[in-house]
Formats: sequence, C-alpha cells, structure tokens
Amino acid sequence: MDLKNKTEEVYILAIESSCDETAAAVVKNGREVLSNIISSQIALHTLYGGVVPEIASRKHIEKINQVIEEALKDANVELKDITAIAVTYGPGLVGALLVGVSAAKAISFATGIPLIGVHHIEGHISANYIENKELEPPYVCLVVSGGHSHLVVVKDYGEYEIIGRTRDDAAGEAFDKVARAIGLGYPGGPKIDKLSKEGNPEAIRFPRAKVDDNEYDFSFSGLKSAVLNYLNGCQMKGETICEADVAASFQKAVIDVLVEHGIHAVKKYGYNKFAIAGGVASNSSLRQAFETECAKRNIEFYHPSPIFCTDNAAMIGVAGYYEYIKGVRSGLELNAVPNLRLGEK
Ligand code: KG4
Ligand code: ZN
Repeated sequence: MDLKNKTEEVYILAIESSCDETAAAVVKNGREVLSNIISSQIALHTLYGGVVPEIASRKHIEKINQVIEEALKDANVELKDITAIAVTYGPGLVGALLVGVSAAKAISFATGIPLIGVHHIEGHISANYIENKELEPPYVCLVVSGGHSHLVVVKDYGEYEIIGRTRDDAAGEAFDKVARAIGLGYPGGPKIDKLSKEGNPEAIRFPRAKVDDNEYDFSFSGLKSAVLNYLNGCQMKGETICEADVAASFQKAVIDVLVEHGIHAVKKYGYNKFAIAGGVASNSSLRQAFETECAKRNIEFYHPSPIFCTDNAAMIGVAGYYEYIKGVRSGLELNAVPNLRLGEK
C-alpha cells in the first residue's frame, strides 16, 4: 500500500520504552490510532514489588523489534508508508529509554525517515486528542502518573507552562507505596481503585496537604506517612485493620487535593476546558469527581480511555504529529534524557 503517493496524509510510527512498557503504534494525521501495541512487563516486576530498571532494559531489548513489527502489521502499513518516527527520549529510566531511542534512530538511519524526539509527559497530555476530536488548546491539564504530578497550562500544541508540581512523591507513587503497605502488591493504583469500592472513604480522616508558597503544588509524602502511622498504630493496639476503608480514605484524600487544585487552576486562568492524563487518570473515582465538579461549573472535562492513560506509544505518535507539522526534527545525535523537563528541547 503506497499511501504517501495517494494522499498528503501523515503516518507517524511511534515508540515508547521509558519505564516498564515496550510499546509501538501507528497514528494517522495526529488523531487516528491505526495500531497500539503494548508489551507490559508488569507481571515480571510484580515479583520484586516494583520496577527493576536493569530487568526493564533487558526486556525492552528482547521485545522492541517484535512490538514495532506488530504495530506496522496491525496498522496495515509498511515502513515506506511512514512519514516520521516519533520516540520518547525522556523523562524515564535511562537504560529503558535508550532501547526505544536506539531502535528509532536505527530505523531512521536505515530508511531516511525523519526522527522526532518526544517528551513523555507531552505524550500523556496529547492522549486526550485521540478520543476528543474537538479538543484544542488552550486548556489546563492535570498529569498524574507514577513519576509525575503536574498541573500544566497547555497554551498551544507543544507549548506548556507548568504551574504546579509535586514537592515529593508523585500521586501514582503514593498509590503504589500505600498499596504495598496494606499488602496489595504492585502496581498499587488499580488495586486501590478496586478495593476502595468496598470501603468507606470517610472512615479515616487522612491529611490534605497544603503547600505554602504555591497554591498549585502538591505534596503526598505526609499523606503516605499518615497511612503508615495509622497502620502501625492499629497493629500496636491489636486493632483489626479494614484494608478497604484505608484504601478508600487514602484515595479520597488524594482525589480531594487533585480536584481542588485542578478546579482552582482552570477557574483562575479563565479557561472552560480541563483535561487529565497519566496512569492515575484512569482512576474511576478521580474521573467521577472531576466529572461532577466540572459539570457544576460548566467546565468541559476531558480524559483519555484507561488504555491511553497508562504508558502507550499512541500518545507519543499524537504528540509527534504536532511536532512534525511544526517542523521539529531530531538528528541522529538524539539521546535519552532521564530528567528531561517539559518544554525543553
Ligand atoms: O503513566 P503511567 O503508566 O507511568 C508513568 O509514566 O509513571 O503511570 C503508572 C502509575 C502507577 O503508579 C500506577 O499505580 C498508577 O499509574 N495507576 C493508577 C491506576 N492505574 C494506574 N492509580 C490510581 N488508580 C488507577 N486505576
Ligand atoms: Zn507515563
């Protein structure tokens, strides 16, 4: 199929390997996902209670070629149909990122297809464009994942201002640590989400942290410590612990803060559009809370389906498309940048 000669359409082959998912996708004209292949290592890392970077890198190497081939096959395209290759080059685990970046560079070098390095968080935000065809900047986006909790003003495609960030743990990290403490295992987010449905969110009053000098910043480590202290206290007093109540009360404390900050930001900046992104954005209670609070204030609320919230390559393809049409290209010197900041090139 020689799509390029038939139309002016843009086909992005996207690659993502920043943490424990080896993923590749083909995205057409920025918002149409033709394929989205994700090879998850979760089962493997569960054995160790969290992501082991060395194991992640090795697994990415084993899987990357197969995942890319499957993404092309599923999309019914060949490399000659691809307009550009988009790859996550940061932030993330350096060894893991290097696998995707090297694969993308090798394909670009061998075929001459242009290469575009994409910021992982820009990918998460862009996941909102896949199923919300009408969504356009400007808007405010809350990015909550295992490594990040950012409140971002999306001024335009590829133009971001971070107005709030976590001072310590990311929201997803807090979910994972609390889940481990109550014996749920890794990854904690989905397990706490599920168990919370059987618990009472008002059973235990955990703290909602305020950060003094920035009304949009977050802090979750005090909440995590409060949960651990509660569990220790119960054990010392010989009291039985209701895990479902702990999960539901912890989750409510996280959501209350995220919703308060998010709604405050969108009002203060004067927008009527609010989006969420990242793994924690697939949390059912968080989505429900934003749905309700946004509806009350006539704010349009956007969120990706859960499969586009957690790490995937389709979101990298969408972000890559908007970089491509702006003329952004990376050279073969593109390298993994583990602590890459949003808005930095
Ligand atoms: O975006 P993501 O897949 O990877 C990073 O870029 O970090 O996010 C993974 C994080 C993990 O901490 C996981 O526990 C959390 O997202 N997560 C959830 C849910 N699903 C995944 N947290 C709360 N509720 C969920 N349903
Ligand atoms: Zn992510």
